[in-house]
Amino acid sequence: MNEGAPGNDLEVLLDTETLDRRIAELGREISADYRGRPLRLVGILKGSWVFMASLARRLELEVTVDFLGVASYERSTEPTGAVRITKDLDHSIEGLDVLVVEDILDTGRTFEYILGVLSAHRPRSLKTVTLLDKPSRRVRPVKADYVGFTVPDVFVVGYGLDYAQRFRHLPDVRIFRPA
Ligand code: XMP
Ligand code: MG
Repeated sequence: MNEGAPGNDLEVLLDTETLDRRIAELGREISADYRGRPLRLVGILKGSWVFMASLARRLELEVTVDFLGVASYERSTEPTGAVRITKDLDHSIEGLDVLVVEDILDTGRTFEYILGVLSAHRPRSLKTVTLLDKPSRRVRPVKADYVGFTVPDVFVVGYGLDYAQRFRHLPDVRIFRPA
């Protein structure tokens, strides 16, 4: 990558090879668990987009994909940390095996909200996979069925994750420390 390219000064937490290896493992584990059953992946926009593309290509299953857009209300004006839908599913999930794909599980508020919304649509089963998990930050009692990596309480960017919409395109996960 060019000297001076965006993000080059950020410390790498998970390099490309480490990400590829772990996502391949997750693919094998998920393929074994759902063997013979079609699986609907539901990616949470925007952060899950890169991880979902990588994971989907590692699944040896009949896979279909859809996306749900969510945004958090500003914590300063919404003390509950409430979440809202910005883009609904395009297709019904009723009666389907659904795997929700997230970039990072932090306080757990987003997960809890999404699981409530999706379970109301009566899928056959509902599980979750997150690339990253920050358990030290949890305020809601939720956990993912599949976790790529447990990370410390640092702000991370890259591989879909952003700081103010920047750095999503970085090929690895890096630590962002605001100046
Ligand atoms: P909650 O707290 O609801 O939040 O579990 C999950 C959402 O918060 C964002 N988030 C991050 N985004 N680097 C990011 O780029 C981080 O370190 C980070 N921690 C939380 C993210 O959008 C996630 O879906
Ligand atoms: Mg984000």
